[in-house]
Amino acid sequence: MKNGHNCYMSTTTTLSNGIEIPLVGLGLWQVPADATQKTVEDAVELGYRHFDGAAAYKNEDGLGAGIRACGVGREELFVTTKLQNGNQGHAKALKAFDTSLERLGLDYVDLYLIHWPVPAWGLYVETWKALEEIYASGRAKAIGIANFTPRIIADLLEAADIKPMVNQFESHPSLQQRDIETASRAAGMTVEAYSPIGRGVDLHNSVVQEIAAARGCSPAQAILAWHLAQNRVIIPKSVHRERLAENLAATEVALTAEDLARIDSLEAGLRQTGDPETTDHPQL
Ligand SMILES: NC(=O)c1ccc[n+]([C@@H]2O[C@H](COP(=O)([O-])OP(=O)(O)OC[C@H]3O[C@@H](n4cnc5c(N)ncnc54)[C@H](OP(=O)(O)O)[C@@H]3O)[C@@H](O)[C@H]2O)c1
Repeated sequence: MKNGHNCYMSTTTTLSNGIEIPLVGLGLWQVPADATQKTVEDAVELGYRHFDGAAAYKNEDGLGAGIRACGVGREELFVTTKLQNGNQGHAKALKAFDTSLERLGLDYVDLYLIHWPVPAWGLYVETWKALEEIYASGRAKAIGIANFTPRIIADLLEAADIKPMVNQFESHPSLQQRDIETASRAAGMTVEAYSPIGRGVDLHNSVVQEIAAARGCSPAQAILAWHLAQNRVIIPKSVHRERLAENLAATEVALTAEDLARIDSLEAGLRQTGDPETTDHPQL
């Protein structure tokens, strides 16, 4: 929906604990550290209110600086950061969260996620216990997981006192991971699609391009509108102002049921990131 400044305000969905999350956020992976503050400020000016950061992205300082300098009240902004793999484990996770808050220069984050489960290390349950404590302290308004598969979700739920509110995983037309989506929703989680345009790969698909031409939108907007029609939170990344505006304006694109079914049919098993069952890089 357009605001008074002729830019788009993203609409929200509600997490299981009642916290509202804007459906469109800006992904910050690979945004250079020295460009992050400016990118965040540009995005806020265009109407973004949600930012997806991580300790592993090495730009939490710039994210926090942008949030503090942007001129919009903290309570109107939604900030996510994530626990780096190498800091899994109860004590390390608590310390890593404090370090993230310090780097951000913020009193709280809106969402804190375990970045990858790394099942081989067997630490995600004790790590989750640390996130439960952080949530109880009020310094993360919501907590969740990323890259958790159905089997790992089921294992975590057996031990969890507080259920995760979000699962963030790779989702785009050529890798939809419907099994993860179904298991996440069944457990009451909101689904966040990362790499929502498949890192640009899916923009070249002829079906996506035909639908975009028919609806008078860009290929990126067609894909993002497809996600939104299925109530997924999306966090496309761009460092270009015109693309930031384009991606946010996907909220204005209406696709038909046939368009949605045609994009559904593009599943091709094309992974852009590591397999969550085996990814174990400490620096991620
Ligand atoms: N939890 C996890 O493990 C995990 C993993 C991966 C990603 N993520 C999150 O998800 C976010 C998004 O994923 P992603 O960065 O992998 O992929 P993405 O958002 O699907 O694609 C980003 C790429 O597409 C380009 N792009 C953006 N908008 C465009 C448009 N309208 N038209 C044409 N090209 C466009 C960007 O280039 P320019 O910047 O040059 O415009 C960039 O190269 C990340 O930034 C991160 O926050 C999380």
